Amino acid sequence: MTDGLYLPIYNSIRGYLDKGYLPFHMPGHKLGKGLPDWFARSLAAMDLTELPGTDNLHEPSGAILEAQRLAAKAFRADYTFFLINGSTCGVHAMIATICKPGDRLVVARDCHKSVINGMYLAGVEPVYVMPRYDERLGLATGISADDVGRCLYENPDAAGVLITRPTYYGVCCDIEAIARQVHERGKVLAVDEAHGAHLCFHEKLPVSAMEAGADMCVQSAHKTLPAFTQGAYLHARGNRVDVERLKFILSAIQSSSPSYPIMASLDYARAFMEAKGRELLGGLLMNCRKFRESLSQNSSLYSPIPDDIINGSTDETRLVVNVAKTGISGYEAAEILRRDFSVQPEMADFMNVVFIATVADSSRDIEKLGEALQALSRYTEKYGFDSKKLASPPHLPEKKMCLKDALESRWEAAEPSKARGRISRNMIVPYPPGIPVVNPGEIIDEDVIEYVEDVLKAGGEVHGLIGGKFAVVAE
Ligand SMILES: Cc1ncc(COP(=O)(O)O)c(C=O)c1O
Repeated sequence: MTDGLYLPIYNSIRGYLDKGYLPFHMPGHKLGKGLPDWFARSLAAMDLTELPGTDNLHEPSGAILEAQRLAAKAFRADYTFFLINGSTCGVHAMIATICKPGDRLVVARDCHKSVINGMYLAGVEPVYVMPRYDERLGLATGISADDVGRCLYENPDAAGVLITRPTYYGVCCDIEAIARQVHERGKVLAVDEAHGAHLCFHEKLPVSAMEAGADMCVQSAHKTLPAFTQGAYLHARGNRVDVERLKFILSAIQSSSPSYPIMASLDYARAFMEAKGRELLGGLLMNCRKFRESLSQNSSLYSPIPDDIINGSTDETRLVVNVAKTGISGYEAAEILRRDFSVQPEMADFMNVVFIATVADSSRDIEKLGEALQALSRYTEKYGFDSKKLASPPHLPEKKMCLKDALESRWEAAEPSKARGRISRNMIVPYPPGIPVVNPGEIIDEDVIEYVEDVLKAGGEVHGLIGGKFAVVAE
């Protein structure tokens, strides 16, 4: 069927699959292993539209309504909405539901860029809470309930709080304490739980947002459950959320031609996790524990355990491997794993490589990952990377302009040396993990420039630069 056709995307996907990588990245179905054969075979035929009998995502009254009700029960929510544009559109919808234009929203600084974009679109101004940062582990260890409480005390007009939990690294802040702080002040707590759709299916995992009393949360089912890319859930609970407004916003921002394969995979992921999730997650947690023990006994690599995280707990299925003692950077380690061991990590930073393990990974898959990492330790002498030279991510830069004004200003491109002291027009995000070091309206200071240059030197990507230059508000 493809002979003689020029198909760049199709060819690049086939070329990638032919390399035979062991996938430790999203989507959670792991190249189809976690889905039944009939699902994969019937994919094109299932790509339907609103027809008699297939229901309508925006006015559900049949199968979709029933599937959403079942999901609400499974995920301990009062309402569940299927999202066909990822957690991204769910984050936008949560913000526009909580806030009116001109409102302020308390957000954790290590939020995903969808939070900043969502605030811009809704005409909302952020008030940031800084997460703690562990220099030894080289990662943010979450925000504390005290910091959230203090921020609400100082900003009593804020419309609500939006936190990210778990983070990309599986760090889970103390959500129950945060929910108490937020609700005592009569505010709404929304949670970006993009990485935590699996949490409620095993008691040894950190408590899920819905179980902890949050009012709303989004979950990227495609990241940790057997569901297709862009498949996500938005759950709501209790009476603090205006559910009719939420429905209106969702129908305004989601496609009027939602993907049936994505919706069917959301339904499948829910049913599968209800039936098998607890048993499979129990096995996965055991395999991840063995992985950590064996790694620390046999190599200079280190995988943080929950006790390392001071403000809460960690999702133990998120395998974070710290390479700080080896003399190679996380970026180099990821490159070696791909090149020499056919292992594809989810992401890397200066000091860590992150692997997503899901119920679709067998014990042998996790063992193979461990073997590759132990072999990687032997490579390290060839490299001269000194993680101590790296700066910590910069502190909150000074804010000079509101988000909206900065994004709507005239701007120009400035070389890093000329950008010092200027107002950023863009969000500058070392990616992954997609956490902004400077946001629109904030000053690009020396620390920001140094950090961005370090990331680039170490082989990381930085989004928001334009041809290596900073976009600054024109003077
Ligand atoms: C913390 C966080 N929130 C939201 C998103 C957006 O999720 P999605 O890709 O499902 O739109 C991501 C994506 O990586 C993320 O890491």
